[in-house]
Amino acid sequence: MKILFIGDVVGSPGREMVRNYLPKLKEKYRPNATIINGENAAAGKGINEKIYKQFLEWGAQVVTMGNHTWDKKEIFEFIDDAKYMVRPANFPEGTPGKGIVYININGKEIAVINLQGRTFLPAIDDPFRKADELIAQAKKRTNIIFIDFHAEVTSEKQALGWYVDGRASAVVGTHTHTQTADERILPQGMAYITDVGMTGPYDGILGVERDAVIKKFLTNLPVRFEVVKDGRDQLSGCLVTIDPNTGKATKIERIQINDDHPFFS
Ligand SMILES: [Fe+2]
Ligand SMILES: [Fe+2]
Repeated sequence: MKILFIGDVVGSPGREMVRNYLPKLKEKYRPNATIINGENAAAGKGINEKIYKQFLEWGAQVVTMGNHTWDKKEIFEFIDDAKYMVRPANFPEGTPGKGIVYININGKEIAVINLQGRTFLPAIDDPFRKADELIAQAKKRTNIIFIDFHAEVTSEKQALGWYVDGRASAVVGTHTHTQTADERILPQGMAYITDVGMTGPYDGILGVERDAVIKKFLTNLPVRFEVVKDGRDQLSGCLVTIDPNTGKATKIERIQINDDHPFFS
């Protein structure tokens, strides 16, 4: 069982990369399921229904989210009907949407969970306790459990990874938009990477126009962040191989497509 995960898709450049490369990635890696983090898919902030549906049409089975979940106000109109969208499960009780989704692939169920860290991000419920709760719930149905942990700091991500090793199949990090080279299988059979990186502009700062970000650091004045419009693009993600009987991961590979790491089919 192979699961392809594509990291934070930023604006139209990111969506174009998904549209162009997802068929090629599917041909090369033959994943059984594809998961896309879409928290920045609409102009860098949030997602709308049209884009969510495009991701499914283009071949994703699940769309995960993060701290930008609510940035596009129309999210409130469709999130409860978006069967294959997961937003961080540890948002407070009563938040629209859901934090876990089950998909059926060739008779095997995969549970996909989205969690958000609390360090340098808004204070929400404890992702560790929420992971305990949702893993226990998922285990009643399947032992294939895939977690997108959307968090800022490496220590919190590593801590959650080690905390659920042996109970989940994979913890892949998102949110920093910068791929880390620490992909590994932890001792009890869980695939782990601190961050898979982003999909979208390659020469921006986390996908955003550089001048505004540099000005922000130079002056601390309010600036308008815009997704880079023209220029080189990238796609980042990973491929996780899981034994469908045990739910243990056997392999994790990083995926980077950009001018410095060209795609070879
Ligand atoms: Fe993001
Ligand atoms: Fe984020």
